[in-house]
Order: sequence, then structure tokens, then C-alpha cells
Amino acid sequence: MPQATFTFPKGFLWGTATASHQVEGGNNNNNWAIWEDTPGKIIGGHRSGRACDWWCGKRWKEDFDRAAETGQNTHRLSIEWSRVQPAADRWDEDAINYYREIVRGMTERKLMPMVTLHHFTDPIWFYEQGGWEMEDAPGLYARYVEKVVEALKEYVSVWVTINEPNVYTLNGYVEGAFPPGKKDVGAAFGVYCNLVRAHAQAYRIIHKIQPQARVGFAHHYRSVLPARSWSPFDRLAAKLVFESINVAFPGALLDGRVRLLGKQCRVPEAIGTQDFFGLNYYTRTLVAFVLDAKQFFQRSFFPPGVEVSPTGFLANVPEGFYEAMRWATRFNVPILITENGVEDNDDRLRPSYLVEHVHQVWRALNNNFQIKGYYHWSLVDNFEWERGWTQRFGLWGLNPESQSRLRRPSVDLYAAICRENALSSAMVEKFAPRSFARLFPV
Ligand code: BGC
Repeated sequence: MPQATFTFPKGFLWGTATASHQVEGGNNNNNWAIWEDTPGKIIGGHRSGRACDWWCGKRWKEDFDRAAETGQNTHRLSIEWSRVQPAADRWDEDAINYYREIVRGMTERKLMPMVTLHHFTDPIWFYEQGGWEMEDAPGLYARYVEKVVEALKEYVSVWVTINEPNVYTLNGYVEGAFPPGKKDVGAAFGVYCNLVRAHAQAYRIIHKIQPQARVGFAHHYRSVLPARSWSPFDRLAAKLVFESINVAFPGALLDGRVRLLGKQCRVPEAIGTQDFFGLNYYTRTLVAFVLDAKQFFQRSFFPPGVEVSPTGFLANVPEGFYEAMRWATRFNVPILITENGVEDNDDRLRPSYLVEHVHQVWRALNNNFQIKGYYHWSLVDNFEWERGWTQRFGLWGLNPESQSRLRRPSVDLYAAICRENALSSAMVEKFAPRSFARLFPV
């Protein structure tokens, strides 16, 4: 059997990522609290509830102990805007101080904090005024950003302005699965433009307060290929999907224009507003043309023959990850993998998914792509948005009722990778033997 070790550069960041609404619990002042209260919006009527009990029960402490003890050196978490600013005219200093305690607790555990300022949730006051469709949304967000960065700057210098603006916009304003549940491309376009403006403002504000900060956003990249490469119709459908998901937002950081399905707005101030490219990658889909305007003339599905995750949400296509990293090099800034993972309660697919995706990062590094770190989604099972608790993305499992944690085998696999700053054939043989021949062909 071949033996090999794929070594990562010294100082490589190894961590996990989470988001406030998904882990904190007790978030009842944001748009997702309304959404969870609305019948039919969340599978099985599930609620975030206590989530992982990070807020009231302070269980972030035990989870960060777990992260640190298993070799991680960083963690990406998000701040809940509705806690910091519960009403348009009010800051909650206690909540802000608690966030200070949390990020200080991370640095005490030698987990470098990466802080996301917006991860899908909006305060109710903001949402009810019209949310990101409002002209002054970027300005309102900018005030919040200023407040948080001033408060946390002692401990935090890596910031993600907005998580997956494309998923936020397309799910909330085209597909309707996220609040406000609209199906309105015009509104989606306006939201995209505002999110780009907000990102650009936040970038400048953060640098004004903290010149040495590193600021980016987290982009959800979907690998999208035409189902039949010979078909011009499939190619056109795939191009439209690719551009709506992958290009509309980040393209504006290159040329100052947001383009969505024939519409265009100019945001010249966004050009060059990132110090790193935050890349979230999960899967690849194929796109076929269909004669149905309601489906935007396309049907998306997983490539045949690839392994699909237990709830049918993702397919294990590591080559799509390589494609994503290569694509991200066009921004000419270092790349951080801000999310990558799979939902898998029984931890059958996760070990293979993990080693095969980490292997792609190593390949990319060997081609001199400037990848600086990898954040696995997620540290512990958490509330999966409209899919509720039906999906389990954690290295650690969670029983939300008892709050007990379950050590899945992937915990030890990821710990070995983080500690050795490498992926070895011995690790793959032990934890993911199915992937051995793929990673170490003879
Ligand atoms: C989001 C996470 C989510 C994950 C898995 C990403 O798009 O940023 O919040 O939990 O996907 O669904």
C-alpha cells in the first residue's frame, strides 16, 4: 500500500465555522424567529429553540474547549445584529460585552476569531421596515458594523462582512425558502445591489477603525456544469445559473457592476474591497434546459454516479472544490475556505468527504493558489435554517433536548489533520478507507 503525507504550509489555519442563529439559542428578535413562527416554513415545524445553548447556557465554552483540544487554531462565528441593536434606536451594551467575553475566550484558547457580521438574520425592526430592499439599508448596517468593530477590535482582526449574499438573496427573494419568502427577481436584484453597497461601506469602516484588519465576505460557490455539454440550450441555462449564483455579487468587486438576468447597477466603490476571498463550497450540480419559465428554464440535479449525502442535499464532488479555488484566484487576494462540509448524522460519508476535500486544498496549494486556511462546517450540529434539525453538519453531534454532545469519528480524523498540519495515508486508511484508492492511486 502506498504511503504518503500531504503537508500543509506552516501557519495554515484549521478551524470550524458556525453562525449565531444556528448555535446561540434564544434568538427571538430576528426575521428567522418570525419565519419559525410561520406554519409551513420549517420542515416538521422545527425551531432553533435553545440551539446549542451558546448564549444563555454559555456552552460556547465547552464547544471551544473541544475545538482547541482537537487541534483547531481558529474559529469562525457570527454576531447577531438583533442582539447588538434590538431596536432601531437602542444598543444593548450587555450583549456587546458578552460578545467581547466570547471572542476573548476564543483567544484564550488560542482559537483565532474570524467574525462574520451578517449571517442570514436581520433584526425585526430592520426587516419590518423593508429589510435589504430599503434604500438606507447599507447605511443602517454600517452603523451596526461600526459599533461591533469598535467593541471587538482588541481581539478580532479578521472580518467577514456578509455571509453568502447570493444564498441570502436567491433563497429569500427568488426561491422563497428564506424570509421574506418572495419570488421577485426585481426585488432580488435590488437586494444584491444593496448588499454590495453595504459590503463596500463596511470594508471602509473596518479599515478606518482598524487599518491592519483583513476584511472579506463569504461567497457560496456552486460548481455548475451543463447536463449535456453538446447542447447549446443546456450551456445557456448553466451559464445563467452560474452567473446568478457565482458572478452577480463577487463580479462587482472586480468591475463595480452587479448584473442579474439582464439588469445592471453600478457600485464603483466596491472595486477591490476585499483583503481575502472567503470561499464556501459544498457541491456541484448539472443544469439542463427545460421549457418552463416558472423554473427559469432550467432543472438542476447532481451528476450521475456520485455519492449523495443522506438527506439528498449534497453530492460529494471534490473536483468542484478545486474548480472553485481556481476560479477564486482571479480576485488576486489570498483565499480562505470559510465553509465546507456535509450533513451526515451517521458519519458514514463525512470522513470521505472531508479527506477528499482537504486533499483538493493541498492540490490547490501545490499549484501555488494562495489558500490560507480551511474552516469545516460545522463544529457541532446546529439549526439548519428551513431544514430545521433534519440535517446534521457537526463534527460533534448534538441532542438539542439534553444538550449532550456526541463525538463522531470525524472529530478524531479532523484532529489528526489539524495537529499534524497534514493529511496522511495512515489517516485515510484508518478513518476513510473508501477514499484510499482515490487519493493514493497505485
Ligand atoms: C450556510 C450555513 C449552512 C450551511 C449548510 C451554508 O450555505 O452559510 O449557514 O448551515 O450552508 O446548509
